[in-house]
Amino acid sequence: MSPVASSWLLAGAILVLVLGDPTDACTCAPLHPQTAFCHADVVIRGKFVGVTPPSPTRSTEEFESWIRYEINVTKTYKGIGSPGDVLFIDSLEEESLCGYRHPGPLDGKEEYLIMAERQGEPLTISLCSFVRLWGRVPPSQRRGVSQAYGEGCACEVVPCHSMPCKLSGNAQCPWTDGLQDWNWQGPQAERQACLPRPSQPLEDSFCAWETLDDSFSEATANSPGL
Ligand SMILES: *[C@@H]1O[C@H](CO)[C@@H](O)[C@H](O)[C@H]1NC(C)=O
Repeated sequence: MSPVASSWLLAGAILVLVLGDPTDACTCAPLHPQTAFCHADVVIRGKFVGVTPPSPTRSTEEFESWIRYEINVTKTYKGIGSPGDVLFIDSLEEESLCGYRHPGPLDGKEEYLIMAERQGEPLTISLCSFVRLWGRVPPSQRRGVSQAYGEGCACEVVPCHSMPCKLSGNAQCPWTDGLQDWNWQGPQAERQACLPRPSQPLEDSFCAWETLDDSFSEATANSPGL
């Protein structure tokens, strides 16, 4: 894995430190929910129940401070955590350094879908991580996290910034939502996953977009090779 891919904060975020404008210094690279799922070490549904200073073992640069969220797990899709466990997830405090600031109350009432990465011991999220109120996650993305995205981790979603999309292999799916919408929230992000075609032999992996509609679970359950 390249050094960039090994760090969620770096992979998800391009730090643009604009002198004189500290409020708008974090820019997130486009991130399809499938890519977020595949890069994450832990994908859970849970409730924010508290925030504490992180353990002093976290190495810090002098300008960085970290906070630690306490998450009461309700369901695990990937990685660790049983229902009722409290997981600790760290973030940089400053939004300008791509820190995640929880927008809601920490009263454990609302459920969130959280994709976190493990950097050394603690789990980490950033402003660029996939963290969303579960009630706002569309049914197709729920199907994605519970089944489809995990089946597509050998495939690669490639953000397409202009036409024609430049692809470098047949395991890639061109992601074109950004051509219409600067924040990449289009139909491919909302309703599609880039999945191996069941009929292709493994060594010649070939991936294509599939729509995660009501028939998805049934269709993949019946197809050989998945
Ligand atoms: C976690 O959630 C469960 C179910 O809502 C609740 O019974 C439990 O007290 C919560 N634990 C903490 C530490 O908030």
